[in-house]
Amino acid sequence: MTGRNRAEDAWERILQRRERLRSGRASAAEPGADARSGDEPEGQLESIYGPLLRDGELVVAQLGQTLDGRIATRTGHSHYVTGPEDIVHLHRLRALVDAVVVGAGTAISDDPQLTVRQVPGENPVRVVLDPSARVPLDRRMFRDGAAPTLWIVSPRAAPATVPGGVRLLRLEESVEGGGFRPADVLQTLTARGLTRVLVEGGGITVSRFLDAGLLHRLHLTVAPVLLGSGRPSLTLEPVDRLDQALRPRCRRFSLGADVLFDLDLDG
Ligand SMILES: NC(=O)c1ccc[n+]([C@@H]2O[C@H](COP(=O)([O-])OP(=O)(O)OC[C@H]3O[C@@H](n4cnc5c(N)ncnc54)[C@H](OP(=O)(O)O)[C@@H]3O)[C@@H](O)[C@H]2O)c1
Repeated sequence: MTGRNRAEDAWERILQRRERLRSGRASAAEPGADARSGDEPEGQLESIYGPLLRDGELVVAQLGQTLDGRIATRTGHSHYVTGPEDIVHLHRLRALVDAVVVGAGTAISDDPQLTVRQVPGENPVRVVLDPSARVPLDRRMFRDGAAPTLWIVSPRAAPATVPGGVRLLRLEESVEGGGFRPADVLQTLTARGLTRVLVEGGGITVSRFLDAGLLHRLHLTVAPVLLGSGRPSLTLEPVDRLDQALRPRCRRFSLGADVLFDLDLDG
């Protein structure tokens, strides 16, 4: 069997475990019966995605950034910072969650579909955090019907209309500023049975979940690209000393010319 076929088979087994988890027929602690050496294509898939097949809630975020920490140019152009292997990886992440969350900035700049197209798997529910309801109604996630879409706005927002098939949810913003509390966003999703969540971007949205201490894992893919300007990746609450920096446990994987850093933020 070729490496590609073995990887496809390994992905199929990962999807089956995800399905068993969803139906409550398996414990995530179930040993990776399919585990192989991490050097083989199927072993790398098991290593990357095995930790995401956990019981209970999962909040994983991803960003694809340049070596100098940018996720898009200053105009918002981001197709593509990372290479095709990372795009496949992103689609695999989508296939393993119930809901994928983006900020208004990404919905406006990228017009993403947020669907699983590059690998077998089901589309997650799409969620956009848009307190002022400033995302235009012609965005694909509002009109293509490819998956359910939740449009989370503040009580003060007054959308002209709500497209068919889109669910408008109103959420109070934090009185301290900074928009919705990420914990409230997760609670809103959990109440709808969406307990496995991918925070897909952009930098502001992922940073708020990270600052709130709510991410179990962060997948940062770094491309050998220098921009020197543009939209930043993470922007966190400032610290004064290096011993206050986050230094999570970290695993590294090659994705073509890029490097995926899988940061374990659990505990
Ligand atoms: N390379 C990558 O992996 C990647 C991934 C995704 C996006 N991108 C790029 O990143 C850029 C967008 O990123 P960005 O950091 O500028 O913006 P963003 O994170 O996509 O969106 C930020 C906006 O979303 C809303 N938002 C996010 N979290 C919120 C919360 N907790 N409560 C309330 N509102 C919240 C706010 O809207 P308001 O301003 O209306 O309050 C906020 O300003 C685009 O250019 C896109 O192409 C790159």
